Amino acid sequence: MATVANTPESSHGADRLPATMRAVVQRGYGGTDRLRVDEVPLPSPGPEEVLVRVESAGIDRGTVHLMTGEPYVMRLMGFGFRGPRQPVPGLDLAGTVVEVGGDVTRFGVGDQVLGIGSGTLAEYASAPARKLARRPAHLGPEAASVVAVSGLTALQAVRDVGRVEPGQRVLVVGASGGVGTFAVQVARALGASVTGVASAQKLDLVHRLGADRAIDYATEDFADGSASYDLIVDTGGNSRLRRLRRALTPTGTLVIVGGENGGRLIGGVDRQLRALALSPFVGQRLTSLVSKEDQGLEDLVGLIEAGAVTPALERTFSLEEAIAGIRHLQRGDVRGKVAIRVGPR
Ligand SMILES: NC(=O)c1ccc[n+]([C@@H]2O[C@H](COP(=O)([O-])OP(=O)(O)OC[C@H]3O[C@@H](n4cnc5c(N)ncnc54)[C@H](OP(=O)(O)O)[C@@H]3O)[C@@H](O)[C@H]2O)c1
Repeated sequence: MATVANTPESSHGADRLPATMRAVVQRGYGGTDRLRVDEVPLPSPGPEEVLVRVESAGIDRGTVHLMTGEPYVMRLMGFGFRGPRQPVPGLDLAGTVVEVGGDVTRFGVGDQVLGIGSGTLAEYASAPARKLARRPAHLGPEAASVVAVSGLTALQAVRDVGRVEPGQRVLVVGASGGVGTFAVQVARALGASVTGVASAQKLDLVHRLGADRAIDYATEDFADGSASYDLIVDTGGNSRLRRLRRALTPTGTLVIVGGENGGRLIGGVDRQLRALALSPFVGQRLTSLVSKEDQGLEDLVGLIEAGAVTPALERTFSLEEAIAGIRHLQRGDVRGKVAIRVGPR
């Protein structure tokens, strides 16, 4: 098993690693006041992991949930009961492999990668090799660092669970968000016609992503009967099940991905459970998604390389500004995705 250079004297081949690194560190669950940028030891990658020098990290709603510890049900799922087990937030990353675990054969030192790691709001992060892919040559590290978490969720919602077919009509509720901006593009790439639901100020983005139609959720009702959809991917607004079913064709598929403000205890998961319970008794397929971090990344990168999908990167913050970036996300201001540029000191 490989070890990590945790002393100034240690080295890994030609690549000398520092003893400590800058990272966003979280003390207990709560708001952004629990975060600060600090100096901490480098992580040690396990045998199936690599150590990545992070060039850029992506943030998403999951990062915020892991910061607040809400919905509380998450704490029972192994993330830490009183405080986060992993004190450095962040899942998405893009960077360079600097250390390879003993069982890793797919990557070598110097490879440029993107994907999902642990504690990525830091200069170095460990990541399981199976959650990484090579970064497409044309994609900069910032754009690459916002691909995996949201893009995989979108790919799995539209293709694997939604089973979209060419020519079908797809509705993406929350089309301006992290998952939604990928879902619109994936559905288009798979030959569907797409309607996206978002706030008025972000409808231009939804059109630019390739949606055939964009609906302002404040002034138009996607379930008013004027159109029905073969597939609805629901990522925002917590619409009632009845309303979502009204907008589906009689044999259409609903994939509930998530939605904010579903309650501090279970985060609205009761809606997913009701959909799953009802589904066997109706003509429509009502289902939900728990995304798998190690499924589909090569396919997603293939779509990016083919030019069918482009990460909707709104802006980049520095590591020192990471807390401002997380606040920007919490307020719902982000158009698509934001990245935290880590870079060299
Ligand atoms: N099941 C899973 O495995 C999984 C994986 C990833 C994420 N999630 C969850 O999925 C949800 C979406 O994640 P995300 O990263 O895409 O979040 P996000 O970037 O914050 O996007 C949320 C989207 O919802 C839209 N929205 C807000 N209020 C709405 C309303 N009343 N009606 C319709 N749309 C509304 C937003 O539109 P505007 O910004 O234009 O207002 C935005 O497009 C989150 O709850 C997240 O926790 C679940």
